[in-house]
Amino acid sequence: MTNSETKATLSFSDGSPSIEMPIYKGSIGPDVIDIRKLYGATGKFTYDPGFMSTAACNSSITYIDGDKGELLYRGYPIEQLAQNGGDFLESCYLLLNGELPNAEQKQKFVDTVTKHTMVHEQMQFFFRGFRRDAHPMSVLVGTVGALASFYHDSLDINDAHHREVSAIRLIAKMPTLVAMAYKYSIGQPFVYPRNDLSYSANFMYMMFSNPCEPYKVNEVLVRALDRILILHADHEQNASTSTVRLAGSSGANPFACIAAGIACLWGPAHGGANEAALSMLEEIGSVDNIAHFIEQVKDKNSGVKLMGFGHRVYKNYDPRAKLMRETCYEVLNELGLQDDPLFKLAMALEKIALEDEYFVSRKLYPNVDFYSGIVQRALGIPTALFTGIFALARTVGWVAQWKEMISDPEQKIGRPRQLFVGSPQRDVPDMDKR
Ligand code: SDX
Repeated sequence: MTNSETKATLSFSDGSPSIEMPIYKGSIGPDVIDIRKLYGATGKFTYDPGFMSTAACNSSITYIDGDKGELLYRGYPIEQLAQNGGDFLESCYLLLNGELPNAEQKQKFVDTVTKHTMVHEQMQFFFRGFRRDAHPMSVLVGTVGALASFYHDSLDINDAHHREVSAIRLIAKMPTLVAMAYKYSIGQPFVYPRNDLSYSANFMYMMFSNPCEPYKVNEVLVRALDRILILHADHEQNASTSTVRLAGSSGANPFACIAAGIACLWGPAHGGANEAALSMLEEIGSVDNIAHFIEQVKDKNSGVKLMGFGHRVYKNYDPRAKLMRETCYEVLNELGLQDDPLFKLAMALEKIALEDEYFVSRKLYPNVDFYSGIVQRALGIPTALFTGIFALARTVGWVAQWKEMISDPEQKIGRPRQLFVGSPQRDVPDMDKR
């Protein structure tokens, strides 16, 4: 970032001395006002619940232009990466290293990730403690957190090589753990990874093969899954990434930090929206019920939201939603499900919402979660596991952002302040006076 000539001057109507603050320019996107000296100079904090106007860090990984509906991974448009930029591991390499790999670099990266896909044999015992019907996200929070116990003593996060190995281990092992969570939920044996399959083909194999018969990989479905992973890989300082950064800012074990990110992603306002969006479509049931549902959404007292719609940053169409809808179409066609009633319902709902003043005036458009449930369901992934797939994909974004934070000379432990509105100091009364 560059320190621009312009400065921000804050003056106060109560006669407090004004303060000048530097303004920094990024390579693209909004400038920032450096307020770090504000409290020291004025005894005042800024107030920004939900961080609507706050940049928590500088980053060079992912850029979103919410007004234009643009998403760039290290400067490359998501459309190009998802449609002709190679596979998910190429995007992983890009997010981690800042540049797309050449053929030799890619092969080395793929080989390294492939060689880390197995988890310690004792990891299986962590699953045994869960109910079979436990939500997969609770299982993933637990098992990814448990990974920290296998890689703690030998891990120095201040060693760049250790950070790189942790990143590779997490990217490589998440598919194995997600597939294990699925197999555990259906009472089937865990399937070990295979080193002769691509990353996404291996995940489909671990999910859907069983020891009793050969499993045939469907390359069209594998490509669709791979694209879904690319679309979910990173998204600047979203809630779960900010959680990973905050946890990591204390120097915590990176596996534990990713477990914290998984916990945050689970929420229906964030990654849990894909599961909620599909349940919403199933609840609406038919096109005839859309009008009534939309009325419920507009009624603030109903608490009903159009899941998969709206976004803190995108005030235009989420570019990932467009690509997800295309993927939906391809997968349903491949499976002969082009008349899938839920897909038709989703497209009808989208059309109606995008013509309705309530959504238009609030700039509410479909986000990445609106269509992802339909395509994942067509791939055979159970609804409860949709957010687990999101976590699988976002792991590379989380670890890339964690690595960037740890090596940022500006980074300090995150410790926000507050506007205190509770009771001023008072004395403890005796029990008979309470
Ligand atoms: C993800 O941050 C990221 O980058 C996240 C993500 C990523 O890749 O990491 O993109 C992934 O989390 C996508 C978002 C998935 N969530 C959903 O689809 C859940 C439904 N969406 C909403 O809950 C909401 O849109 C949020 C949480 C996504 C954004 O909320 P904001 O920015 O805090 O906006 P808001 O809640 O203040 O909404 C502004 C207005 C409000 O109405 P008014 O008070 O102005 O009358 O829009 C309304 C809201 O009630 N609104 C909705 C709505 N979303 C916002 N009304 C109905 N349905 C919705 N989905």
